[in-house]
Amino acid sequence: MPKTKTVFQLVILVSLCLFLSPGAWAHGHAHGHKKPDKRGILLVAFGSSYPQAQASFENIEARVKKAFPQVPVRWAYTSRIIRHKLNEKGKHYDSTAMALAKMMDEGFTHVAVQSLHTIPGAEFHDLRSIVTGFESMSCGFEKILLGYPLLSAPQDLVAVRDAMLNTIPEERKAGEAVIFMGHGTHHPSNAFYQAMAHSFQQEDPNVYVGTVEGSPSLEDILDRIEDKGTDTAYLMPFMSVAGDHVRNDMAGPGADSWKSILADKGIRTEAVLKGTAEYNTIADIWLDHLQDVFSHL
Ligand code: CO
Repeated sequence: MPKTKTVFQLVILVSLCLFLSPGAWAHGHAHGHKKPDKRGILLVAFGSSYPQAQASFENIEARVKKAFPQVPVRWAYTSRIIRHKLNEKGKHYDSTAMALAKMMDEGFTHVAVQSLHTIPGAEFHDLRSIVTGFESMSCGFEKILLGYPLLSAPQDLVAVRDAMLNTIPEERKAGEAVIFMGHGTHHPSNAFYQAMAHSFQQEDPNVYVGTVEGSPSLEDILDRIEDKGTDTAYLMPFMSVAGDHVRNDMAGPGADSWKSILADKGIRTEAVLKGTAEYNTIADIWLDHLQDVFSHL
């Protein structure tokens, strides 16, 4: 069995690096031999404990490996709750800091970290501060760069809109509603959901965006759907994975699921249980962001 460092040893390694980082100490690696270049990719997602959600992660990983056949790809899940749940089932996932510490230990010199988030919200900014921390370690990586989430630049909004419109099932008739369920957040980046909602409405007035935890909410769009007299609505995730929110809040049997709320209003629903990362057209927008940062490594 290969000898691996313990969590404790990795923590010591990272702490020493941080301690030795500031200016006067920064000549640390000048004394040693320059390490040979070793490039790697770290994919970072919130994570999901639903086995079905793995389809999204597997698809992204396959796209990334196809684009970078020679580059080792590692994963990190940011949700501690999900990591613990998976750990109980014998599936081990690292946090971002742990995954990066291990990559440092394995001798990676250049790392592209790719956010698999949908918007640059609180989780993305947490990820950025971890990446910045590793960047400041003098005995760490030579270069570490972070790729933007799905929606960041204005052209992403157009690309995502067009790709998402193409994922709507062909059976859907023009007058029927489509509701994309986004996560939503208290973070100012919630505005990305509002921007997407507006953008969809410009293309097709029967396509809506609702969010679980931000705005627009389902209530915000219910009146408009009812006013149009629509009897059918397609419920589709605007989340990378079809996990807990999709299977319970969107399409679950509970009285407060979107499916049940719409049924109470006499609107029949068709739920699509597929995360956005399962569609290559959308996965490739994340991949574009990764290719962009990788080219600057
Ligand atoms: Co949530």
